[in-house]
Amino acid sequence: MRRFENKTVVVTGSGRDKGLGQAILQRFADEGANCVVSDLGAPAQHMGAGDIGTTAEMEKIASELRQRGAKVATIPCDVRSEQSCEALAQKAVEAFGSLDIWVNNAGIGYIMKPLLETTASEWDAVLGVNLSGAFFGTKAAARVMIKQGRGGRIINIASQAAKSGFPHMAPYTSSKHGMVGLTRSTAIELGTHGITVNAVCPNHVTTGLGAKQNEYFSKLLGFPSVEAYIENMKRKNPLGRPGFASDTAAACAWLASDDAVYVTGESLNVSGGEEMH
Ligand SMILES: NC(=O)c1ccc[n+]([C@@H]2O[C@H](COP(=O)([O-])OP(=O)(O)OC[C@H]3O[C@@H](n4cnc5c(N)ncnc54)[C@H](O)[C@@H]3O)[C@@H](O)[C@H]2O)c1
Repeated sequence: MRRFENKTVVVTGSGRDKGLGQAILQRFADEGANCVVSDLGAPAQHMGAGDIGTTAEMEKIASELRQRGAKVATIPCDVRSEQSCEALAQKAVEAFGSLDIWVNNAGIGYIMKPLLETTASEWDAVLGVNLSGAFFGTKAAARVMIKQGRGGRIINIASQAAKSGFPHMAPYTSSKHGMVGLTRSTAIELGTHGITVNAVCPNHVTTGLGAKQNEYFSKLLGFPSVEAYIENMKRKNPLGRPGFASDTAAACAWLASDDAVYVTGESLNVSGGEEMH
C-alpha cells in the first residue's frame, strides 16, 4: 500500500537506531511518505550518556530510509523548546511543500527511582520532554496544518504508563497520563480544522530506552537475569510476547490513514492485551 504518497510526516525523537521513531518512519517510507528524521543531534544536559539520537545516527537512519525509496530530510529539534518545534514544522514545509502527519515521539524513560529519591530537576526533565515537548509539537504542527487548510494528523506516542501506574516511575507515568489529557483536549479544539489527534499506548518494546527499563526492573523485582524477566513478561501477556516497534508503527499508519478519518481523541492500547482500558 502507498497510502501516504505526497504526504509529509515528521517524527520527533526519531534519530536513534532501533527506536520506535525509526520504525514509524520506516513504515511511512514504505507507504510513500516524505520523511523528516528529527532528534537532538547533539548532547543535551537532560539526557543520559548514550541515550541521544546523534547527528551521525540521524544521517544513518535517513540514508536507510532513502534506500527504501523515500524522500528524506533531517532536521534537528529539541522538543523542550517551543521555538525549536516551530522551526521544525516550518523547515519540513520548506523541504517538501506540506506538513500532513506529526508524531510526538521524543521521550525519556531512563530515570527510574523511588519517589522519595526523585528530585525536582529529574521530574522537570521528564515532564519537559515527554509532556511539554508534545504540547509544543502539537502547537507547531497545528499552526501549519490550520494554515494549509486541508486537515492533518497528530499522533502522540504515550505508553501503557498512560493508563496504569508503575513503581519508581512517577515522573514518566505522570507525563504519559498527561499526554492522554493533551490528546483529548486538542482533539476537541482541532476537530473543526479536520485535524485528528490520537495517542498510541505501547507496552514494553526493547528499544534503547526499553533495554534500560528491563535492566532496572529485573533487578528491582529480584529476577536472576534480564532474560528471566522478559520470559515472565511473555507469560503474562495474552498474546505471549512483548511489543515490537513495528506494532506501534502499524498503529500510527492506521491512525494517519483515511480509514481512521472518524477517529479522534483516542488513546489506543497496542499491548497484546496487557492493557484493556
Ligand atoms: N520502548 C518502550 O517500551 C516504550 C513503550 C511505550 C512508550 N514508549 C515511548 O516511545 C517513545 C520512543 O521511545 P523509544 O523506546 O524508541 O526510546 P529511544 O530512546 O530509542 O527514543 C527516544 C528518542 O527521544 C529523543 N529525545 C530525548 N530528548 C529529546 C529532546 N529534548 N528533543 C528531541 N528528542 C529528544 C532521544 O534522543 C531518542 O532518540 C518515547 O516517548 C517513549 O516514552 C516506549
